[in-house]
Amino acid sequence: MAAIEAANLTRTFHVGDEPVHALDGVDLSLSEGELAAVVGPSGSGKSTLLALLGGLDTPTSGSISVDGRELAGLSPDELAAYRCASVGFIFKDFFLLSHLTALENVETPLKLAGVPAGERNTRAAELIELVGLAARGDHLPRQLSGGERQRVAIARALANRPKLLLADEPTGNLDTKTGHAITEMLVELNAAQGITMLVVTHNPEVAERANQQLRMVDGRFEEEAA
Ligand SMILES: Nc1ncnc2c1ncn2[C@@H]1O[C@H](COP(=O)(O)OP(=O)(O)OP(=O)(O)O)[C@@H](O)[C@H]1O
Ligand SMILES: [Mg+2]
Repeated sequence: MAAIEAANLTRTFHVGDEPVHALDGVDLSLSEGELAAVVGPSGSGKSTLLALLGGLDTPTSGSISVDGRELAGLSPDELAAYRCASVGFIFKDFFLLSHLTALENVETPLKLAGVPAGERNTRAAELIELVGLAARGDHLPRQLSGGERQRVAIARALANRPKLLLADEPTGNLDTKTGHAITEMLVELNAAQGITMLVVTHNPEVAERANQQLRMVDGRFEEEAA
């Protein structure tokens, strides 16, 4: 059974008179532990797809099943619980909380999940070490480089041991060398921890390393030779 299965997914936005068909019939199947790369022009629907898979938004029509569970049938509370327990997000702009240290940022999702303080501290420290920032745990985001910030964001995304990691242009704001290091980290995490990953990227390195390469155009996946 596929870990994630989306069928005939659509998402239409209504702003003004003209509807925007951001997703226009997307089918997707991700196996457990797979690394899939999504490319495609600006406005083609990549971030919209990630939002749906991560339970941040709901589709206009179609289905998303995660381990056999249909997301469309979940209440807002259930969807929030799904996000918290099962999904990690990584964004181009990092989205760290600026007044919290690196360690505190990593602890945030653990707090939301109700993990007790002692366990939270231990787990955040392990994760900060995993991403190679043991010496930077007490730094605020502005006291970190771009690559270090993204490492903190990766550690945070892993905090609740998600089944699915969704990354939206994770190297988009980094120089080539730093982007390379972040890509390596994601590929290694995929291999070592078996987390299913969907990565939106313009970085050919990620696409090269992926098990599945998907190209989105006008809200649909184009067939592409694997
Ligand atoms: N909340 C929204 N309300 C209205 N339209 C939206 C909304 N979010 C996205 N869109 C529209 O849906 C389409 C797809 O947007 P999306 O952000 O998914 O594209 P993308 O492929 O991620 O692009 P980029 O590479 O620039 O990030 C765009 O035409 C966008 O303007
Ligand atoms: Mg986008």
